[in-house]
Amino acid sequence: MIELRKVEGVTMRKEILKTLMENTDKYISGETLSQRFGVSRTAVWKAINQLKEQGYEIESISRKGYKLLEKASALSADELSIFIKSDNHAYFFRCEKTVDSTSNLLKQLANDGAPEWTVVLSEEQSDGRGRLGRQWISNVGEGIYMSLLLKPDIQPFHAAKITQIAASAVTLAIREVTGLPALIKWPNDIVVEGKKVCGILTEMSAELNQINHVILGIGINVNGESIDDEIKDKATSLKIALSSAEKIDRKLVLKSFYSHFEALYGAFLDDKTATKSIAICREYSAIIGKTVQIIRRQESQDVTVLDITDEGELLVRHVDGREEVIISGEVSIRRGEQYI
Ligand code: BTN
Repeated sequence: MIELRKVEGVTMRKEILKTLMENTDKYISGETLSQRFGVSRTAVWKAINQLKEQGYEIESISRKGYKLLEKASALSADELSIFIKSDNHAYFFRCEKTVDSTSNLLKQLANDGAPEWTVVLSEEQSDGRGRLGRQWISNVGEGIYMSLLLKPDIQPFHAAKITQIAASAVTLAIREVTGLPALIKWPNDIVVEGKKVCGILTEMSAELNQINHVILGIGINVNGESIDDEIKDKATSLKIALSSAEKIDRKLVLKSFYSHFEALYGAFLDDKTATKSIAICREYSAIIGKTVQIIRRQESQDVTVLDITDEGELLVRHVDGREEVIISGEVSIRRGEQYI
């Protein structure tokens, strides 16, 4: 009973927000809202206060009603679930102000039985994690720090392809929303003009033949205005790359990402091949045809990148002419002194 009321409350708050967003040119009375959603005026007032707490600037004038003046700058679960919808499943967005890592929080939620397509976002992370034990700098409000819970019915060895699917969807989203020439640095980085703007960390809980869940962690540097000294040679933000005075709307990037991700992930589940995503990874590869250094267990080797295989591995040629297929696992790729 309590749970049901809570869900109704959230749904009603979302509907009120949607109504205010659709009517920013006028006041909507408390009476209208309470009649429209079949709730008391007090319930409307409470929902409005909760929206204000989330950062929405809402003017209330007695005998006129409520008007939305400014949307919240922080990402809000109510707004995301209005803005991002699927015909095939529900999204369960959860937006936090601060967490150690969205992937850590999502792991706890998954262990407590959270459904597939639960998405945790945070305005900042105090302990954002990258691949190979690296740190992911997650300054407040500057990026998209997001983890998505998936429960694919596939053999565990197929799971690495989910990174390629996500990389393709992020690349298409960045290109679509900003027009920037985003490229994929296999296996899990997105770069713009040679500098990293996004990293992907895919983590899995599995038995020998069965996946319990996959946590897809994605960090995108969206609106950062300066880059920390220690990474400024190899990282940038979309805002810096665009030389834009305006902030980029993170919701647009998210909406575009999810529309591409759903289509590519759906195709993957249908036939267990990531053909479409691999084609995108090839088309927008930052490294195919280039000479790079593959770094494994502290050892660096010069190789020419020939292709990405249909299985999502990297096909390279060593200086002695030997060809090798590399799986994503534990390799880093560098290009001389440059990041890429
Ligand atoms: C990498 O480039 O090494 C991967 C970086 C992944 C960062 C994201 S941010 C959201 C999620 N939470 C984390 O702690 N890490 C991932």
